[in-house]
Amino acid sequence: MSVYILGIESSCDDTSAAVIEGTTILSNVIASQKVHAEYGGVVPELASRAHQQNIIPVIDTALKRAKINKNQISAIAYTNGPGLLGSLLVGSSFAKAMAYSLEIPLIEVDHLQAHVLANFLEKKEEPKEKPSFPFLCLTVSGGHTLLLQVNDYFDMQVLGRTIDDAAGEAFDKSAKILSLPYPGGPVIDKLAQEGNPDKFSFSIAHLPGLDYSFSGLKTSFLYFVRDHLKENPQFIEENLADLAASIQKAIIKSLTDKVEKALKNSRCKDLVLAGGVSANSGLRKAMQKIAMKHHRNLFVPSIDLTTDNAAMIAVCGYFKYLKKDFSTIYAAPYSAVKR
Ligand code: KG4
Ligand code: ZN
Repeated sequence: MSVYILGIESSCDDTSAAVIEGTTILSNVIASQKVHAEYGGVVPELASRAHQQNIIPVIDTALKRAKINKNQISAIAYTNGPGLLGSLLVGSSFAKAMAYSLEIPLIEVDHLQAHVLANFLEKKEEPKEKPSFPFLCLTVSGGHTLLLQVNDYFDMQVLGRTIDDAAGEAFDKSAKILSLPYPGGPVIDKLAQEGNPDKFSFSIAHLPGLDYSFSGLKTSFLYFVRDHLKENPQFIEENLADLAASIQKAIIKSLTDKVEKALKNSRCKDLVLAGGVSANSGLRKAMQKIAMKHHRNLFVPSIDLTTDNAAMIAVCGYFKYLKKDFSTIYAAPYSAVKR
């Protein structure tokens, strides 16, 4: 019998609902909140209000697109954290009420595990090869930067993490310094494709072990741009693509140096990318090179499954469903990463 999971994601500024059958996506609806653009970042209170407006139409659309009715759903999986508490409360309350009224299992999902497990999603009529355990996974998003050894679906060992900003924040803050819109990652990615990555060089942090740090890079970029603007007010306009390409190169080098270091002592055969920043075309190319150099296979989610979406929540829920790892209406959302 088919297992249909309804996934609900509301951890930050995307309200999303998806229906999957096994690991195959039947629908994946994402309402991105435009309200934050004018503030240059996510405003938590505005995010929760927008989730409240979006949640019912988004779930309704996900069910319609999947062509199933609510009585066919096997279980409801929802993001319980980490994220903005007000935002999480909207999705989690809805998931709890709906599962309770339908008398079906409720499954709580960790957002970061879901980013990793997005690599196990399949699209209809597009069979996809899946990574084998254990694999090394670089998980890079707006809020997190983690280097993981993934031993099993729910056994993820942290090898390294950022001690300050996340890789996505490094992209977003660099974009802000260049007066580019939020979120800056995709904008920098696009500009970088036209620019010279060797025009300017920015030094990256060399932390011992496998941890990351991006705050020094951001500050040196800020001072560099500010100093040049004093001499030439047109400095950004005249060098925009080269600035984007050069800062992107530094962020990618910082990420990939540690991946290479980890691979040297690793028994993992597969290398995996996850999280919003894994949409970055430069990072994908750099990881492909590393995979070839170290004789590993690289797995990346399709671009639309890299940033926040409910299909990844649903697939994480599916693997928990198989283990009968169910939750209760008393599970409280959490804002910080579980260690
Ligand atoms: O995973 P995600 O949607 O949300 C979090 O869980 O944080 O990641 C969002 C982050 C933002 O910082 C955004 O700028 C970045 O992913 N991002 C990118 C690209 N697309 C999204 N960064 C670099 N290049 C991209 N193409
Ligand atoms: Zn995310």
